[in-house]
Amino acid sequence: MAATYEVNRQAERTETDGIHQRLLGWFASNRRDLPWRHTRDPYCVLVSEIMLQQTQVDRVVPKYLAFLEQFPTLQALAEAPTAEVIRAWAGLGYNRRAVNLQRTARAVLAEHGGQFPREVAALRALPGVGPYTSGAVACFAFEQDVAFLDTNIRRVVQRLFVGPEERGLATERALVALAAQAVPPGQGWLWNQAIMELGALVCTAATPACWRCPLQRDCAAYNTRRQSDEQLFDAALAESPRPVRKIAEKREAPYANSNRFFRGRLVDALRALPTGQSLPLDALGPQIKPEYSPADAAWLRQIATRLAADGLIELDGDLARLPI
Ligand code: ADE
Repeated sequence: MAATYEVNRQAERTETDGIHQRLLGWFASNRRDLPWRHTRDPYCVLVSEIMLQQTQVDRVVPKYLAFLEQFPTLQALAEAPTAEVIRAWAGLGYNRRAVNLQRTARAVLAEHGGQFPREVAALRALPGVGPYTSGAVACFAFEQDVAFLDTNIRRVVQRLFVGPEERGLATERALVALAAQAVPPGQGWLWNQAIMELGALVCTAATPACWRCPLQRDCAAYNTRRQSDEQLFDAALAESPRPVRKIAEKREAPYANSNRFFRGRLVDALRALPTGQSLPLDALGPQIKPEYSPADAAWLRQIATRLAADGLIELDGDLARLPI
């Protein structure tokens, strides 16, 4: 019994070593040269990770470089007027991230003397830092062997170790545990960057390029699909051509009429003003919605009130401006 267990453990180790070698080998020759991969400065890593949370890599690269030019240090960011930080965020969307990023910087300055804590738990205690960001900073700045999930890592771990999404999704807890088991000791930085890269370039959501995936033979999803495809193919020989399976794509809510769209428009309109200058809501209305009428005043006030609660604007009676 004990011997069988040892043999199984050995087989598992060999399998895991193979996965490590194949993915890291692929990463070595396929990795993109991204500016945040050249730094271990936790401030720069934090800026990149917050920007990358909801924005594509290509759009982030120039904004990341410009942002660090404008706010080269944690202290520079912490001490800047919030209006300037929101202005620097133009083009990235989800402006709340700019305000939260500055909040985090201010907390590191006030509570940790400007030195980022290294441990996941201490990072997690900072305002604006969730499970993903704390793991990413601990790993990408302090090279700790920790696991964390973003959309790409989650998808790769699910497919590699669990199976195709349509056959059942593992819980977040289970996926983190699987991701943690997979981190090769001492190589957390490389490993997590490599999984992300695989998710971005090969194991994509709708059309994964399994034919050029270094983990094809290891992949639970690939093997399950292949087996069922072979069964389908056998059946098809006897019947009619098999239907092409459609992979459902996530449908986004129409954006151009959503409140998120108008929140962005309102912040954009205030960005165009010199710092400190305000505009009354009834002047902002027609700027953000061409068919604006006085009947929309309550709707606009609600949007402005929520933006103010999120720290994105200041509202003084009817006057709105970026926070200074
Ligand atoms: N997306 C989130 N973090 C990333 C990183 N460090 N590199 C590439 N894409 C990412």
